[in-house]
Amino acid sequence: MKKKIVKYNKFLSYESDSLKMEEVSLVGIAKAIKTPVYCYSVSQIKYNFKELKKSFSNCKPLICYAVKANFNKNIIKILGQLGAGADVVSIGELKQCLKNGISKKKIVFSGVGKTSEEIKFAVKNQIKQINVESEEELQEVIEICKKLKKKIDVGLRVNPNVDAQTHKKISTGRFEDKFGIPQTKIVSIFQKFRNNGYVDINCVSIHIGSQIRSLLPFKLAFKKLRNLILNLQKKSFTLKSIDIGGGVGIVYNDKKDKIFTISNYAKLIEKYFTDFKTQIILEPGRFLVGESGVILSKVIRIKKGENKTFLIIDAGMNNFIRPSLYSSDHQIFPVKNKKTKQKYEVVGPICESSDIFKKNFLMSELKQNDLIVILSTGAYGSCMSSRYNLRNEAKEVLIEGKNFFGI
Ligand SMILES: Cc1ncc(COP(=O)(O)O)c(C=O)c1O
Repeated sequence: MKKKIVKYNKFLSYESDSLKMEEVSLVGIAKAIKTPVYCYSVSQIKYNFKELKKSFSNCKPLICYAVKANFNKNIIKILGQLGAGADVVSIGELKQCLKNGISKKKIVFSGVGKTSEEIKFAVKNQIKQINVESEEELQEVIEICKKLKKKIDVGLRVNPNVDAQTHKKISTGRFEDKFGIPQTKIVSIFQKFRNNGYVDINCVSIHIGSQIRSLLPFKLAFKKLRNLILNLQKKSFTLKSIDIGGGVGIVYNDKKDKIFTISNYAKLIEKYFTDFKTQIILEPGRFLVGESGVILSKVIRIKKGENKTFLIIDAGMNNFIRPSLYSSDHQIFPVKNKKTKQKYEVVGPICESSDIFKKNFLMSELKQNDLIVILSTGAYGSCMSSRYNLRNEAKEVLIEGKNFFGI
């Protein structure tokens, strides 16, 4: 008899009403590994990387994976093998990349609060560049280079004062945000530090926010960055690279979210920057890994309240904080689809009222020990987890074809 297959996306599908990631049954994963467990589709990550790469026709950008989205070593290895560099924001992320196959000459170090220990480590390891976020930080980089008798390339992160129209907690490109150097100060810093002998300031970078859903904020920021570059050229400064940052949004809820296509994003970058004939750097995080991940979780108990029914699962806000922190709305699927439906409030076991994954949600009727998945949890999921309530962190597994590994 032919099996009934219902595809949700390229790598997640129901086969005879039982959910599979690639060719692997999620029921089987839950038998092999204690839930909650993060499952990542390797093919989805590879697909996303290749889609981004091939969207560019006039230039070949250096794609520096923003490791903050997910620092799982196997994910870093996979992206490194595809040719990715990395955007890191701590010595921990930098070491993780060096250990897992990312070439040091493809690593960009961003972040508003690098310590002198972190700067020293970056300079000693001669990474591609440090993106500095203030004149004060630049002074410190120069002092460290002097002491170590080493040089390093530097990018200035520009704050273009553009509202990314995203959640306020992940907006980074307005003057009120702590990130970057106000665009009004950039040229004077280039002038002040010309020929300083230690750092070569040869890049401008921006990153205006994350989960950006429309091209308009990018367009506004690109326009400003372009004008700034033209201004720098007039003053005879030459750039080795232009770093466009990350921020591309993904669909979390296919009934609500509308996002531009990645090829239109690439076209916009090419329109504003390829005529400079300078290397383009991208720092995508969420776009590369977000959709690849699900949290596989088990129902602990179903609790009937006064006016709602709580579905208490074994994943909590300590494993996945996005819904509590950003009010993000992730789709939830039962691993075994059933015809009878029931309305639930899907909650975790943590002693916080904000430990809610979904309210007033109609899904297959479930019982104790049944399995569910929370979708699109590959980015800013496991890496933001904690041991709150002294609970264990969720294990992580990578799935490719018929195999799973990396536990
Ligand atoms: C400097 C920088 N680059 C890249 C990223 C990655 O952003 P996203 O995951 O939205 O692509 C971030 C995240 O906020 C960032 O701060």
